Parts: sequence; C-alpha cells; structure tokens
Amino acid sequence: MPTLNQKEKLKKVKQPDVKIPIPVKQKRLVSGIKPTGQLTLGNYIGALKQFVKLQDEMENTELFIFIADLHAITTPIDKQELKKNIRSIAAIYLACGLDPDKVNLFIQSEVNEHAVLGYVMESTAYIGEMERMTQYKDKKQKQTEGIRTSLMTYPALMAADILMYDANIVPIGDDQKQHLELTRDLAIRFNNTYGETFVVPEGFFPETGARIMSLTDPTKKMDKSNENPKSYILLLDDLAAVRNKIKSAVTDSDAIIKYDVKKKPGISNLLTIYSSLTNETIKEVEKKYKGKSYSAFKADLAEIVADSLRPIQQMYFEYINNPRLDEILDQGAERAKLIASRKIEKVFKRMGMGRVR
Ligand code: TYM
Repeated sequence: MPTLNQKEKLKKVKQPDVKIPIPVKQKRLVSGIKPTGQLTLGNYIGALKQFVKLQDEMENTELFIFIADLHAITTPIDKQELKKNIRSIAAIYLACGLDPDKVNLFIQSEVNEHAVLGYVMESTAYIGEMERMTQYKDKKQKQTEGIRTSLMTYPALMAADILMYDANIVPIGDDQKQHLELTRDLAIRFNNTYGETFVVPEGFFPETGARIMSLTDPTKKMDKSNENPKSYILLLDDLAAVRNKIKSAVTDSDAIIKYDVKKKPGISNLLTIYSSLTNETIKEVEKKYKGKSYSAFKADLAEIVADSLRPIQQMYFEYINNPRLDEILDQGAERAKLIASRKIEKVFKRMGMGRVR
C-alpha cells in the first residue's frame, strides 16, 4: 500500500519543462583527440594548431573541443595511464593556446549523451560501412585476438560526437577524412528517414600538414603507437631529444631541398613541418635553402621545432596541477551537456522512443 507521502508524490503533476533558451551562435565547430598516449607533433600541426587558429579567426562560431576518452577504450589501455593522458591532453589544449572563454573544453565521458547517441548512430550504420574503414582494417591487422567490438563501431561514436552539436565545421587531419565522410552519410540517412535532425558537417583540413609523416619511415603517418620513438616527436619530449630526432630524420641522398612527396618523401615531410610551424609557404622555404645542405636545413628546423615546443611545455606545467584546469573542464562539460541532452531528446522523439511528450 502506498504511504501518504508516496500518494502525494503520485498526485503531483509534472510541471511542464520550461526550457531556458540556449544562446546560439550561428555556427559550431567540433573536434577531439583520443587520449591513447602522449600527443605528437602530427597532432599539433594537423589538429591543435588549427583549433587555435580557428578560435581566433572564425566569427560567430561556438567551439566544442573534447578529450575523446570513450574512443580510448576501443583497444586495451591501463586505467592509470588513461587517467594521466586525459589530464595531460586537457593541459596541452590550454598550453597550445585554446582560450576557455572562446572554447567549451570537456571530457567526452563526462557528457554521457555521447555514448547514447553513439548507440543510435550504430543503429543506423551498416556493418559493411564500418568494415570498410581503412583505420579499422589497419588496426585489426596489428591485433590477432581479442579485438574489441568498439574498434569496429568507433566511427559511429565519432559521428555522434560531431552530430550532437550540429557542427558545421570539423577540423581534422587527413587520417580522419573517411570517418567524416561516414558521418555525413549517416546524418543524411537519418534526416531522410526520420526528418531533418542533424546538420551535415564539413571537414576542415590544414593547407599544409594534414598528414605529418614518420621521421624514420616517411611513407607512414607520424603515430604515437609506433614502437620506434625516433619516428615521432612528442609535444612534451625533452628539447635536446627533439633536435636529435629532426637531425637524424631519414632523407634521400641527392641533397636537393625540394618538395616531391613521391621521390623525396623524407625532405618533403621536413619541408611541410617547417612550413607549418613558420607559416612560410613551401615554395618560400625551398627558395631560402636553394644550394644549402640537408644538415644546415635540419639544424635550422631543429631550432624551429624546439622554439615552437618550448612555450607549450612551459604553459603545460602551469596547467597540469592547477585546479583552474578542473574549473575549465567542469564549465565546458556543463555547456556541452545542456546542448547534448536536448539533442538526445529530439533524436528519441524523432525515432519514436520512450513516451510521446
Ligand atoms: P586522433 O586522436 O588519432 O588524432 C587527433 C587529431 O590529430 C590528427 N593527426 C594528425 N594530423 C597530421 N599528421 C599526423 N601524423 C596526425 N596524427 C593525428 C588527427 O587527424 C586528428 O584530427 N577519431 C579521432 C578523435 C575524435 C574526433 C571526434 C575528431 C573522436 N571524435 C569528433 C573530430 C571530431 C582520433 O582518433 O583522432
């Protein structure tokens, strides 16, 4: 038998949900980084540097930048390491110049709706589409057993991350292009099936540096999961090690500083790094080093990379143990949650889930 108190509660008519309007800017930008390891110079040039540039250049745009920790569990990762990486990436975002007054910075798993919309996207995506993703095929090849299901379904979660906020623009490196294409396809499919719900996003790729290559094998992407640490530069690497890695980067033997990805992938990669960090065009850099030796070019580049990383490292140590970092992440999650919860409500309604309201 219900008690009086329970009866009272049952009688209580639910107040209509008075919605506080969400202040909207005309456009939204969304991007994220997976905390599976420390960040590389590739992440910086292909993604972080672009975020900072766009935050300063794009008018009337709200930015949502997050740490994609739900993506980090698609392969096994030690709990303590994951925790450390999440905080470290948050501090790096700020150290690179992201301004919390302009950007909603948050941790993906703190906005539960990502997992929910990820499931919805899985439910509209086809297995064939997932199996076709080149990143999945590459990663699957490296693992023989215990491949997690989420490794395959991960692009559906990435689509959810983007569609959740009605992103118009998604700054990413080249390796995420296929995932963005899938996101667009899923948005269009959902809109056609259930009615207009999602904005179809556009990718934004840097003019130079969308694919920074390994320093030891310049035909492969610079990747933190490579077993040879000389193949990548970490943003928090000791600067003496950074200089050495650049100086020992693989190049060809004809000693002409010229951009030619097919014939001279090593020097082309170094020219790309040079151009991205100095904002000089590749043509200008080629002209500057005409007739000069590879070692002279590498020595200058080593200094340029070290000079770019020094202020980031200094700022990183300012943020990493600072309670302000938590305040910024709380504030970002709060804003993201507000938008995400309303989006889920709309999506469920469109699909006929739950009760009609
Ligand atoms: P992730 O964590 O592998 O990489 C983060 C960003 O860095 C870029 N990047 C590179 N750019 C140039 N050269 C390289 N060598 C290089 N390596 C990495 C990536 O293209 C990416 O932009 N699935 C994503 C994370 C993600 C996301 C999202 C991104 C989850 N949800 C929604 C955008 C929007 C990933 O694994 O990136």
